Amino acid sequence: MVIVITGTRKGIGKELAEYFCNAGHIVIGCSRGEKSIENVNYEHHSFDITDEKSVKLFFSQLRKNRGGLDVLINNAAVNNALAPVALVSYNAAASTMNTNFMGSFLMAREAIKLMMKNSFGRVINMGSMAVKYEEKGEAIYTASKAAVLAMTKILAKEVYQYGITCNAVSPSAIKTDLMDNIDPDALNVVLKRNAIPEMGTTKELIDTINWLISPQANKITAQNIYLGGV
Ligand SMILES: NC(=O)c1ccc[n+]([C@@H]2O[C@H](COP(=O)([O-])OP(=O)(O)OC[C@H]3O[C@@H](n4cnc5c(N)ncnc54)[C@H](OP(=O)(O)O)[C@@H]3O)[C@@H](O)[C@H]2O)c1
Repeated sequence: MVIVITGTRKGIGKELAEYFCNAGHIVIGCSRGEKSIENVNYEHHSFDITDEKSVKLFFSQLRKNRGGLDVLINNAAVNNALAPVALVSYNAAASTMNTNFMGSFLMAREAIKLMMKNSFGRVINMGSMAVKYEEKGEAIYTASKAAVLAMTKILAKEVYQYGITCNAVSPSAIKTDLMDNIDPDALNVVLKRNAIPEMGTTKELIDTINWLISPQANKITAQNIYLGGV
């Protein structure tokens, strides 16, 4: 399959890209930064997913070079606004909403146009347990992920007739740079509420995505799957 993954320079996106390349898929990854993966099945594009022109150019090249894509994994996100609402600057909130929601929207919009032509597609958006727990200090990040989940459900209804499913996967907590500014004690308190009261790994995310893109999940759409026993 041809799998497009956003945010592959580091963190979860990089691990997903390496896994799917090694599993024999063609992975086309992107991030603002340079390529950090060396694999014969990997191709990197450096652009910002909030820039509409760059997103359109990326998909037009994808159409010419590969004839389209089978899977889009909307993974790239930032958390620039980790503070009580009273202290969040406009720019921090806007960049978080723009990357997490508008970027995912732009990538999904352009991807489904190509998927519709091939009458097949799988869109996987990344949610977060933040949506479930509504923690203080996380209003903007949580709102951005809630918006992604709402789009997931509505987009699923719009594209099912074209052979496209659209689902979200919401990890609990996985050790990456995104977690750097989270207070470990506060995180532990949140994790203790889960059926699995410990940090998650990319492995369970990969297992879930593997199922969602398999023929067994052809009729699974408009769902959000929480990981970590949230
Ligand atoms: N880690 C967790 O515990 C956790 C929990 C729940 C959900 N999630 C979700 O999982 C996903 C991955 O998170 P992560 O922890 O791996 O984050 P991360 O380590 O901070 O990596 C984020 C990736 O996104 C890229 N990126 C950021 N802004 C971008 C933009 N505007 N355009 C293109 N690429 C951009 C970054 O590369 P550049 O800087 O080069 O652009 C980087 O490769 C996110 O959707 C996050 O919300 C994570």
